[in-house]
Amino acid sequence: MNNNNIRQRKAEHVAAALEHDLSAPQAASWADIQLIHQAVPEVDRDEIDCNIEFLGKTLRAPIFISAITGGYDGAAIINERLAAAAEKYGLAMGVGSQRAGIAAPELAETYAITRRVAPSAFLIANIGAPQIIPQAGKAPFTIEDIRSAISMIGADALALHLNYLQESAQPEGDLNARGVLAALTQLTKAVGQPVIAKETGAGISKESALALLNAGAQAIDTGGAGGSSMAAMEAIRAEKIGDIKTKAIGSVFRNWGIATPISVIEASAAKLPIIATGGIRSGLDAAKAIALGASVAGIAFPMLKAASTSQQAVFDYLEIFLLELKTAMQLTGSPNIAALQKAPVIIGGAVKSWLDVRGFEDQVKQYARRS
Ligand SMILES: Cc1cc2nc3c(=O)[nH]c(=O)nc-3n(C[C@H](O)[C@H](O)[C@H](O)COP(=O)(O)O)c2cc1C
Repeated sequence: MNNNNIRQRKAEHVAAALEHDLSAPQAASWADIQLIHQAVPEVDRDEIDCNIEFLGKTLRAPIFISAITGGYDGAAIINERLAAAAEKYGLAMGVGSQRAGIAAPELAETYAITRRVAPSAFLIANIGAPQIIPQAGKAPFTIEDIRSAISMIGADALALHLNYLQESAQPEGDLNARGVLAALTQLTKAVGQPVIAKETGAGISKESALALLNAGAQAIDTGGAGGSSMAAMEAIRAEKIGDIKTKAIGSVFRNWGIATPISVIEASAAKLPIIATGGIRSGLDAAKAIALGASVAGIAFPMLKAASTSQQAVFDYLEIFLLELKTAMQLTGSPNIAALQKAPVIIGGAVKSWLDVRGFEDQVKQYARRS
């Protein structure tokens, strides 16, 4: 695939997300998670402390502006606005896949702008798992390529995105997945920064989390089902070019994957810091994810929508989100994130059924009986 094609694909992804509904129907999973209201919480909402330690740095709120874009001209303004918000509120932020910036240095600026605008924010570089192993007719990235992605944005960590569902639904997808764990093991030893293993909408199971831990991953981003579906996004692109086979994969697998709240619990088996991403649409969803054990909640589509509108829209979205989070913290009697991580949680519905049959019944009971 040449640089112009990659550039065009990045623009098409953003357009598809903004012009179509890409949500996976599992969005209702958060309704299966309930926090317990405390009528006498004894917490002043104005004094709630949202600071959290994440991979050796302090975030002022447990929010990760998830990897979205970079690599075409229009991406620079989106990344600039998101980075300004990450800096202002002390958040973590990821850039989109840096494949385009590695292949075409003239596009590096669409990513690099984040570090100039956000000199102190926790920035996360991004490359794809399919690109660290050989694909038909294509050589994998070298360690130097990966280091250049990290230095492009002065990154504090590197996300390796796992997107095999998306690749299967992509007309030009990279379909080899054999050898990723071995390549990740090499990578984690060779790059200086912590590596976050990140799904992109299909979630991380207990088995995958343990395999990623063994390969040296230092954090997990669930990228669970229930939010933006990369399969649905690719189905739109496939339809446009009349590729009916690939479109079928994207449509049939739109709702495939492990819902985000389930993935937070499954992935906790690895005992690594967890970013809960996938269908987080309010500060209350984030509070639930944190009570289940996540350190940070990741948001992609709502941030893209706000950033495509204006800088103020990004600030407004985050201020409302933070207010919702702090309200949930106050009403659960949680003066800080550590307290929220110990708040009791009731898990019901399809999420409980899944966890019970997967052998997490005791954990489900422990969540409810915390005090
Ligand atoms: C337009 C768009 C582009 C994306 N590009 C990337 C990417 O380049 N790398 C990546 O790791 N994830 C990418 N994602 C996935 C998001 O980081 C996130 O995991 C997913 O959208 C689920 O979060 P959400 O439900 O809040 O949107 C992209 C998502 C969208 C909507």
